[in-house]
Parts: sequence; C-alpha cells; structure tokens
Amino acid sequence: MNKQSIKSPPVPPQTNFVKILHGLIIISLFIMIGSGLQIYNATPVFGGKSGWSFPQWATLGGWLAGGRSWHFTTMWVFAFTLLIYGIYILLTQRWKRKFFSEQDLKALKVGKNPKRRIYSWHRLIYTGIIPVLILAIFSGLAMYKPAQFHWLSGLFINWQTLRTIHFLTVPISLLYVLVHTIMGIRAGGLRLTRSMFQP
Ligand code: HEM
Repeated sequence: MNKQSIKSPPVPPQTNFVKILHGLIIISLFIMIGSGLQIYNATPVFGGKSGWSFPQWATLGGWLAGGRSWHFTTMWVFAFTLLIYGIYILLTQRWKRKFFSEQDLKALKVGKNPKRRIYSWHRLIYTGIIPVLILAIFSGLAMYKPAQFHWLSGLFINWQTLRTIHFLTVPISLLYVLVHTIMGIRAGGLRLTRSMFQP
C-alpha cells in the first residue's frame, strides 16, 4: 500500500452542545478529583489515619469540610451532565456514529489502514471511560447515602472495598485524560482537538 492510499479520516463536525457537555465533564471531573483527594486525606483509604496521603497542591477545599462541600456540590453538575449527555446520544442516535462499533472491531482485527486503526483505538478508549465514570458516581452514591442506598452499598462487598473501588476511578480517569488526549492528537492532529474545544 502506498502512502497516498492511506487516508486520514476527515475531522468530524462537533455540535456546540457536545462541546459544552465535554467541557463541563472535564471541569467537573477535575473538581471532583481535587476535592475527593482532600476528603481522602482526612482518613486515607490505604493505611487509615496515619496512611499515605496526597500533597496539599493536589487537593481542593483546604480542609475536610471544604473538600466535602466542593465534592457534594460538583457531583450534581458531573452526574447531570453525564445524564444529559446519555439522553442526548440515545435520542440523536449519536452513539451509533461516534462510539466503538463492529466496524472499529473489524478495523482493529483485520484493517490495513493505520490511521483508521488509531481512530478505532481512540473510539474504544473514550467509549470505555463511560462505564468508569458511571461506576465513580454509583460507588460515590453508595457512600454518600449508605442508609438509603444500602442495596447499592451491599453490592460492593464491604466499606473498604467500596472506598477502594471509588478511589481507583481517580487514577483510571487521570490516565484516561492523558491517553485520550494523545490518541485524539494521533487520530486527527490538533485539528481534531480544536474541533472539540473551539466554538
Ligand atoms: C476529562 C475527561 C474527558 C472525558 C471523560 C472525555 C470524554 C470524551 C467522550 C465521551 C468523547 C466522545 C464525544 C462525542 O463525540 O459524543 C470525547 C471526544 C473527544 N475528546 Fe474528550 N474527554 C475528556 C477530556 C478530553 C481532553 C483533555 C481532550 C484534549 C485535550 C479531549 C479531546 C477530545 C476530542 C478531540 C474528541 C473528539 C473525538 C472525535 O470526534 O473523534 N478530551 N471525549
């Protein structure tokens, strides 16, 4: 195959609505992480009160009550943005066009066009973060209202497992942001990245 026949996919037009939701998810995710680490520091998940904690610069809120205020206020923005995004992609059938599909699986298994393969990886990665973000919300909800959602908390075996699972969504999300940013640039260059942020 010569270089000319290896075509890059065109940069997809992004709707302003999706750009706004995408931006809100990024901002609220970082607030959730910073304030979550502040709450973590009050009683580290690993090792109890004298366990390993995070440096002040990585946290938001100043102290436990401040961290909790940020966390519990922003969780509404975070959860509702995801909910609205979910409803939007279902109603507009966007998930069929934009999310990992059978064609992507085919491209990864037998495809010869390297650009198309990178694009399929890129779609697989951003499709894969959705269940992680939903897990972050439900495991958080199970800790926020353990009496009302005892059936939900019960799914996570015990409190320490629940805390650990909720905590693990932080490194996964941070790693995701890094890989997703790199893959976006590899898949469509800065043009694709700009298409998701420019009005
Ligand atoms: C903070 C966490 C982030 C999450 C959860 C996230 C999630 C997503 C999702 C679900 C999509 C698909 C949207 C759709 O078309 O319906 C997407 C697309 C995209 N994201 Fe992110 N994103 C995040 C951060 C970022 C960052 C930091 C960048 C770049 C600096 C970025 C760049 C892009 C680009 C360029 C697309 C368009 C992909 C395409 O149309 O092929 N994202 N993101």
